[in-house]
Amino acid sequence: MKKLYIETLGCQMNKSDSERIAGILSHFGYENTNNEKEADLLIINTCSIRQLSADKAYSQLGVWGKRKKDKPNLKIAICGCVAQQDKEKIRKRAPYVDLVFGTHNIYELPELIKRIENDEKVCAITTKPVIKDQNDFKIIRNASVNAWIPIIEGCNNFCTYCVVPFTRGRERSRRPEEIITEAENILKQGFKEITLLGQNVDSYGKDFNNPDITLANLLRALNKLDGEFRIRFVTSYPSDITDDLINAVDECEKVCKYFHIPMQSGNSRILKEMNRRYTKEEYYNIVFKIRNRFKDVTITSDFIAGFPSETEEEFTDTLKAMEELELDYSNTAAYSPREFTKAGKMTDKFIAEDIKYERLERLNAKNRDLALLSNKKFLDKVLNVLVEAKTEKNNQIILNGRAGNNKIVHFKSDKYKIGDFVNVKINKAQTWCLYGEPVE
Ligand code: SAH
Ligand code: SF4
Ligand code: F3S
Repeated sequence: MKKLYIETLGCQMNKSDSERIAGILSHFGYENTNNEKEADLLIINTCSIRQLSADKAYSQLGVWGKRKKDKPNLKIAICGCVAQQDKEKIRKRAPYVDLVFGTHNIYELPELIKRIENDEKVCAITTKPVIKDQNDFKIIRNASVNAWIPIIEGCNNFCTYCVVPFTRGRERSRRPEEIITEAENILKQGFKEITLLGQNVDSYGKDFNNPDITLANLLRALNKLDGEFRIRFVTSYPSDITDDLINAVDECEKVCKYFHIPMQSGNSRILKEMNRRYTKEEYYNIVFKIRNRFKDVTITSDFIAGFPSETEEEFTDTLKAMEELELDYSNTAAYSPREFTKAGKMTDKFIAEDIKYERLERLNAKNRDLALLSNKKFLDKVLNVLVEAKTEKNNQIILNGRAGNNKIVHFKSDKYKIGDFVNVKINKAQTWCLYGEPVE
């Protein structure tokens, strides 16, 4: 067997793609290694969401390129969103790269790998995806408890700041039967949590022209599968969250009461400039509706600081929204101009770097305060925790896991193991995690 090392940057979709890439290549003589020095084939799966992520990809390639001097048979490949975006241009910056393949070309890998093994330099980027039944190939999953299932790829939303519609193409849903088969396989292998993935999971099924194929109905179908396990889904687009979806989350006991609903900005003018299809008030109503329906629900969000033309006052609307909605946790970022996007061309309205980063700092401070406030609400409560990892500190075993609402919980115990569901009474709350002890 040859050795394969994959470095994965970016979102869960990329992490899931890497597991599929490793699976496909395992049919063709490649075995995964965690030690990049012993690899015969190095693959970097890249992210282009911000300039910093794209730069990381090129600097890693630079390091790997130098290795070829000592190991001339070493093959280097790049895939993911930077590959899809930069195509042949990559080779100008990194001529030692053997293979560039796009986000739609994963299932052509068997043939592409043969070509680079014959010392050909290959660039395979299609804009039209090849639809394959993913269950025909092995998937080498990195985690032992949580498994990802992509249910919809691509995005039709074209938010003006975002590169994803250009790197992942238009929305394509996987057939429900294929997803259910993948879930059944996962459960047979002993996984305890399934996370359904999509850039916009609420759009699931729209491309089938069949009103019965929806995320809500998919959750209902998966909930019927036998066994003790959890179901999660990310990411939700605020105005696409239907009442039927909320009903399905409520009805299905295996579906976690957790919503990740990026707001991006707390100001309606900025939201319009971002081409987000909701106002501040509409977002507030969605959050209120979910909070009224579910006890102990966690709602998380994403925010961008310093979108082109954002005034100080408009920015403070974002801080206000985070606080008024008591968002449990948010991912934050300073706006980064991206090629092809509409906002990337608004150069005369760009916000100065120092102002952007000062705003980001204020977002982060607010986020930390809210995360602590949110965690403190769980003091003395009992949460059902799925154990995901085990560490040892001063001869004591500490188990780490997450509650259904996605809260991270640590507790001491030598009684339980990874994959167990344990009721834990919370006795300490910090900004990023909770501590507690198991209760019967
Ligand atoms: N589909 C999801 C988000 C996917 S991208 C959604 O619609 O919410 C993940 C996050 O990256 C986004 O929510 C956004 O906050 C951030 N992001 C995307 N493009 C960005 C850019 N150009 N600059 C800074 N942050 C960006
Ligand atoms: Fe990007 Fe908007 Fe699509 Fe999310 S919904 S992936 S932010 S274009
Ligand atoms: Fe990055 Fe592509 Fe995901 S740009 S965030 S890896 S879809």
